Amino acid sequence: MTLTPASDPSGRAVAGRTAYQIVHNTAEVVTPDLEGRRILRYPKGAIVFRDGRVLEIGSGPELSRRHGEARPINANGRLVTPGLVDCHTHMVFAGHRAAEFQRRLRGESYETIAAAGGGIRSTVEATTRERDDTLEKSLAGRLERWRANGCTTVEVKSGYALVPQGELRLLELMRHAVLRVPVRVQRTALLLHALPDDHRGRREDYVAEMCERVVPEIKNRDLASAVDVFCDPVAFSVDECRAVLASARALGLGLKLHAEQFSRSGGAQLAAEVGALSADHLECAVEEDWRALAEAGTVGVLLPAAALTLRQSLPEAAMLRAAGARVAIGTDFNPGTAPAQSLLECATLAARLCGFTAEETLLAITWNAAKALGLEAQVGHLNPGAWGDAVVWECECLEELPYWMPAVRPDCVFMRGADLALPSLERRVWP
Ligand code: NIG
Ligand code: FE
Repeated sequence: MTLTPASDPSGRAVAGRTAYQIVHNTAEVVTPDLEGRRILRYPKGAIVFRDGRVLEIGSGPELSRRHGEARPINANGRLVTPGLVDCHTHMVFAGHRAAEFQRRLRGESYETIAAAGGGIRSTVEATTRERDDTLEKSLAGRLERWRANGCTTVEVKSGYALVPQGELRLLELMRHAVLRVPVRVQRTALLLHALPDDHRGRREDYVAEMCERVVPEIKNRDLASAVDVFCDPVAFSVDECRAVLASARALGLGLKLHAEQFSRSGGAQLAAEVGALSADHLECAVEEDWRALAEAGTVGVLLPAAALTLRQSLPEAAMLRAAGARVAIGTDFNPGTAPAQSLLECATLAARLCGFTAEETLLAITWNAAKALGLEAQVGHLNPGAWGDAVVWECECLEELPYWMPAVRPDCVFMRGADLALPSLERRVWP
């Protein structure tokens, strides 16, 4: 992270724009509560950042009176939310698959294209051929775009190498790329994505190698904080996934699954059984699966861009409420099923397709998404003690967030209480 440190080693606040600031003159400040159960709203509220974290949130006039020493930042009567959290992306890849998208529109299925050597394997080929520095630069550029769209925390998965050495290479270069960009990045090793060609007929060896060699190496080299698997008849079985997840759990890594995407095959129940952080996709899940996830405290992550691209349907909000589910929304950014580059755009779609309220939509891209990464104590909300990651939006109220299409844009993005210039959006006037 290249952010300016907010305090020197003695703990004294460093003079300058990052140390002590108050964002005032807002239309409203909104945040999930500490448990992520509801949205707290502060009309004409203010927020005080100190040493990179939220010091206080509350009534504007009162906080302005009590924090007269803080550097004032005028929000010009706009909405302030926590920085958004994109909890599911596959950002490290080369090339694109626009031609494959056309083939699907003409009627070929994702599975047929994949079985004929297209799909994931074609991106694996392009990514394997690409130079490290080019992949790093492209990842850094993508992270900048995510920040410009209001995301301050982004999960990035490996998964487009398949062979063990290649997956480790992708994770290593992710570590370098993220140093270039002031965005919080959570690295996930996607270890069972597709069987590499050189392992055809040797599935068991591949799964065993992941369990016995790759997972421990990831842990030893601190290459990722979680492990993901693609649990589906077109990819890996429940038992194969369980084996890799068990070896990851034994080493204290977080667990995630691509589950119930193409057919209902037991991935959601497996996620609940192993206590995964999240089960993602779930296009084919039924209410019973959502209930199992809710009981296990596993977040269900919806990926509307993938569902739309593959012309699948999304679950109804009423069913999710009845199941007591905790729902997040992610982009699933990848070249095959989800070339989606704005989390808020995805959320505006999910709000319409599922029937989420504005408050549910915000929870799904803040607190719930942070929980899907195990980060909910620190990010995804603006309660005192959380990181000062926040967005001033070019609108006035929470209800506008899922309303406008294309989605509203950030005016200003704060990381650790510092308002850094946005890369690809012109900044508005700040008196
Ligand atoms: O999340 N489901 C598996 N993986 C990706 C798609 C990968 C690809 O087609 O390149 C997904 O949709
Ligand atoms: Fe995915």
